[in-house]
Amino acid sequence: MNIARGIALRSLLPALFHSQKDINAQSSGQRAGTRYGTAMSHTPSLQSTRGTKTGLKSPVITSCFLGVALSSRMVHSTTLILFSRYLPDIAWGKRSRVILDVGCGVASFGGYMFDRDVLTMSFAPKDEHEAQVQFALERGIPAISAVMGTKRLPYPSRVFDVIHCARCRVPWHIEGGMLLLELNRLLRPGGYFVWSATPVYQKLPEDVEIWNAMSILTKSMCWKMVNKTKDKLNQVGMAIYQKPMDNNCYEKRSENSPPLCKESDAADAAWNVPLEACMHKLPVGPTVRGAKWPESWPQRLNKTPFWVDGSQVGVYGKPANEDFEADNAHWKRVVSKSYLNGMGIDWSKVRNVMDMRAVYGGFAAALKNQKVWVMNIVPIDSPDTLPIIYERGLFGMYHDWCESFSTYPRTYDLLHADHLFSKLKTRCKLLAVFAEVDRVLRPEGKLIVRDTADTTNELESMAKSLKWEVRMTYTKGNEGLLCVEKSMWRPKEVEASM
Ligand SMILES: C[S@@+](CC[C@H](N)C(=O)[O-])C[C@H]1O[C@@H](n2cnc3c(N)ncnc32)[C@H](O)[C@@H]1O
Repeated sequence: MNIARGIALRSLLPALFHSQKDINAQSSGQRAGTRYGTAMSHTPSLQSTRGTKTGLKSPVITSCFLGVALSSRMVHSTTLILFSRYLPDIAWGKRSRVILDVGCGVASFGGYMFDRDVLTMSFAPKDEHEAQVQFALERGIPAISAVMGTKRLPYPSRVFDVIHCARCRVPWHIEGGMLLLELNRLLRPGGYFVWSATPVYQKLPEDVEIWNAMSILTKSMCWKMVNKTKDKLNQVGMAIYQKPMDNNCYEKRSENSPPLCKESDAADAAWNVPLEACMHKLPVGPTVRGAKWPESWPQRLNKTPFWVDGSQVGVYGKPANEDFEADNAHWKRVVSKSYLNGMGIDWSKVRNVMDMRAVYGGFAAALKNQKVWVMNIVPIDSPDTLPIIYERGLFGMYHDWCESFSTYPRTYDLLHADHLFSKLKTRCKLLAVFAEVDRVLRPEGKLIVRDTADTTNELESMAKSLKWEVRMTYTKGNEGLLCVEKSMWRPKEVEASM
C-alpha cells in the first residue's frame, strides 16, 4: 500500500471503518436532520405538527414493516384500479411515467408501480418509522431519505407526472400552504396530486377542519378536484386534484393569495433553497418546457425533448439537439460493447444503480432492457440537465458530492462516475468522496469510473488500500477506465484504532 495514502485513509477511519454495530447504532440513534445533509436537515414541522391540533392522523402507525408491505399490496392494487376507472387519461406507464411518492413508508407503492413501467421517486424521513427507506432499498425499490420541511426538495420544477401521498401525514394546509406549494412547483402542468388521508374520508372534527382548510387552499392554487372516492371494501378514500395547464385561472383570482413568485425566483433552483409560499407562473409557448405534455413512454426515452433548442450549445459543445443525440449513441455503444459484456459484471445481481454524474441520462437509457433502476445525479456545479433526464421518462436528483448522499450505508449495487472525480478534486478531497462511495456501495458492488488517467490511477490506489478487487483498468493517452469491486474486508479493531 502506498504509505502516504495509507496514512491519509486512516485519518478517515471513523467514516470508512465503522462496524456493522456502529452503523446500526448510527442509523437508529440519529434523528432526521443530523446525518444526511440538505434533504434531511430541516424537520421541525415533522415533530412539531404531529399530535398538535394541526397534526394529521393516520389509521395505522406501526413499525412492523412486513405487515405494512403486505397490506399495502392490497391497498395499492385497489388504488390503481380506482385511478384507472376514474381517470382513464392517467394511462400508467405511458402518459404517467415518472411519479413522486411523498412519505413512502417502505415504498410498496413504488414497488407495485415499477412492474407497470412507472418510475417512482419515493422518499420519507428518518422518523419513528426508523429505517423505512433502508428497507425500501433493500427490497430493490428506489427511495431516498428526505422530508417536506423548510427547504425545496432536490428536484427541478414541473417534472413529476403524478404526485401521490397515501396514509398521508404531511400538514399541507399550514403556514400558507408552503408544503403543498412545493408539490405545485414539482408537478407538471396538467399533472395529478393523489391525496389519501383521514380528512378525505372521516368526519372527526379535526378531519373536517383540515378538509375545509385544504379545500380553500387547493381552490386558491387553481387545483381542480377531479375526483373524491371512498373504497367500499376498506373504507379508505382519496381525493385527486389536477394542476392547471395555463395561467388563465391565476389571472382571474380575486386575491393574489398564495402570491405568484417573483420573476427573479428560478423555479428549478433546488439546492439549499428555503421554501416560500408562492406559485410560479406556468410556461407558455411552443418551445417552452412544460407547455406541452411529453411523448408517451417509451417513445420519450430516445427522442430529443421538443424544447431542447438547437441554436444553443450543448454540454459537449455541439448544438444542443445534436449533443443529446451523440450522447445517446455514445452510451448505447459503451454499455452494449463494454459494460454489459466486457467487464465480467453479472447484471442479474445488479438492481440499485447510480450514475453519479448523469448529464443527459444516456447511461441510464442504455440500460433500459436490464432489470435495474438508475438514480441519475446531476451535480450542483454541472449544467442543469436534470429536466432533460425527467423529460425522457428517467429520474434523478441534484447533489453536491462534497457532502454525503441521502441514503443508508450499503444500498447501491453499482455506481458509475463519468469524469466526476477529476472535477471534484478542485472543490473537496477525493479521499473523502471515496469514503462516501465506500459507505453507499454494497460489499461485492461495483464502481465504474471513466476519468483522466491520473484520477483513475489515484482511485485505483485507494480501492486497493481497502482491499477492493480491481476488475479492469485501462488507460489510453490521458483517459482512464477503472472497474473495481468492493470486498467484504474491514480492518481489525487494532488497525482501525491506529
Ligand atoms: C402512515 S405512513 C404511510 C406510508 C406509506 N405512504 C403507506 O401508505 O404505506 C406516513 C409516512 O409519511 C412520512 N412523513 C411524515 N411526515 C413527513 C414529512 N414532513 N415529509 C415527508 N414524509 C413524511 C412518514 O415517515 C411515513 O413514511
